[in-house]
Amino acid sequence: MKIKFQYTYILYLILFFACNKSTQTTNSPDPGITNTTYNALFIPPVITGTTFNLTLDKATKQFKTGAPTATYGYNGNSFWGPTLVMNQGDNVKINVTNNLTDATTVHWHGFHIPAVMDGGPHQIIDAGGKWSPNFVIKNNAGTYWYHPHLHLKTYEQLAKGAGGLIIIKDPVESALALPRTYGTDDIPLVLSSRRFNGDNSISINGAYGDYLLSNGVMNAQVTLPKQYVRFRILNAEIERGYDLGMSDNRSFYIIANDGGLLNAPVSVKRVKMMPGERIEIMVNLGDDAMGSSIDLKAYNSGQAFGFPGGEPATMGDFGSLLNNKDFTVLHINVGAATASPITSLPAKLANQVYWTNADVTNSRTINITGGQGGSAFTFDNNTYGFTAINQTVALNAIEKWTIVNNNIFGHSFHVHDVQFKIVARSSGVVGPHESGWKDTVYVPYGETVTVIAKFDDFADPTNPYMYHCHFSNHEDGGMMGQFLVK
Ligand code: C2O
Ligand code: CU
Ligand code: CU
Repeated sequence: MKIKFQYTYILYLILFFACNKSTQTTNSPDPGITNTTYNALFIPPVITGTTFNLTLDKATKQFKTGAPTATYGYNGNSFWGPTLVMNQGDNVKINVTNNLTDATTVHWHGFHIPAVMDGGPHQIIDAGGKWSPNFVIKNNAGTYWYHPHLHLKTYEQLAKGAGGLIIIKDPVESALALPRTYGTDDIPLVLSSRRFNGDNSISINGAYGDYLLSNGVMNAQVTLPKQYVRFRILNAEIERGYDLGMSDNRSFYIIANDGGLLNAPVSVKRVKMMPGERIEIMVNLGDDAMGSSIDLKAYNSGQAFGFPGGEPATMGDFGSLLNNKDFTVLHINVGAATASPITSLPAKLANQVYWTNADVTNSRTINITGGQGGSAFTFDNNTYGFTAINQTVALNAIEKWTIVNNNIFGHSFHVHDVQFKIVARSSGVVGPHESGWKDTVYVPYGETVTVIAKFDDFADPTNPYMYHCHFSNHEDGGMMGQFLVK
């Protein structure tokens, strides 16, 4: 959203530093949670094959007592959509039907496909219309997603529930002893939060929700087997970041980033995820007692300035009941092991070879700008233009993009078409947890991040790809640019 007044931000700065002086920890009841009853985690249904039919419709969902909430869902779901499972190398066709009274688009986030199939702001599906892209799956096994990308409507359509996961499979991943029984030991987990208006409708103002939704469910719980369990986690937020960890502070293992498997698992106790990012993690429940429970939590209190959702306010444009708090994202009950459990972690996962500075054939810099004195955030002082071409990349170029954020807040930078390698952060740390292929990267306040990608396969002299902040409110506000590959 636009920064309405500069002094809003100054006030925020004062409050932020004042609140962070005293160390705060939040105990139960969790903020934004009105009761202690847990609800079953929704596991989105799966569609497999090479032809996928997706229909976006209006729906309703009973989130709170009182009126049902008006939502959007694909294929009859009341919020969110089915998980599409695709195989690398397949030529897939997707038939999208738009039953809304508004136009929409469907973007295949993370996919390396032709610009006209990408589902960005230009591939508009009118109200009542259909769109049938087809493309070959070139990406590695991993967790991707689809969501609307209609300029000025992305926030609203995502907030109302339009989106879904995509799982790509390939022979490298399939050969590993990893959990992959969907919904049993391979758990999709989509994190977001929403604010509700007085009539229980979903707010489409402000940056942050007051109520956490895990796969669209408040206060979610799940029973998982006493063994290694894999989570495919997507931050599907409008703007909030998550700093995830287990409630007993145990280590867990990152096995994949946005674009697929890391070369080896990386042990962590906390991991930050910004809007648009995915990770796959392994959590060992093998030593937990049956009937015990443990929580996956967001440790969002006391974050550095510029962390989205670290603001101290509980209401207003930059406030929410979940801000600057630690809160549970999933209550896990430990149940019986399955018949053939995964009981160890593979030492090696993949053999990815990444781009380095020596490979680079062209470099460019993108500055994060705007956000001052009531203006929207922008790149290089240009607000998004539907017909503007902001960058032109030569086919097969290996490009180094340096994203400079000398601005006033953190952002989540996303590029279409490619998966990139993060080669430098001005803070000095590119964590091993972000050492895999990425399509979305956190650019904290005051930091410069450098990434390298190859722009191969798909040239098009007229149809652009997007790069943008994945905070939907910033994106709708014009923090988006277009590039041609030709
Ligand atoms: Cu997930 Cu351009 O978006
Ligand atoms: Cu994308
Ligand atoms: Cu942003």
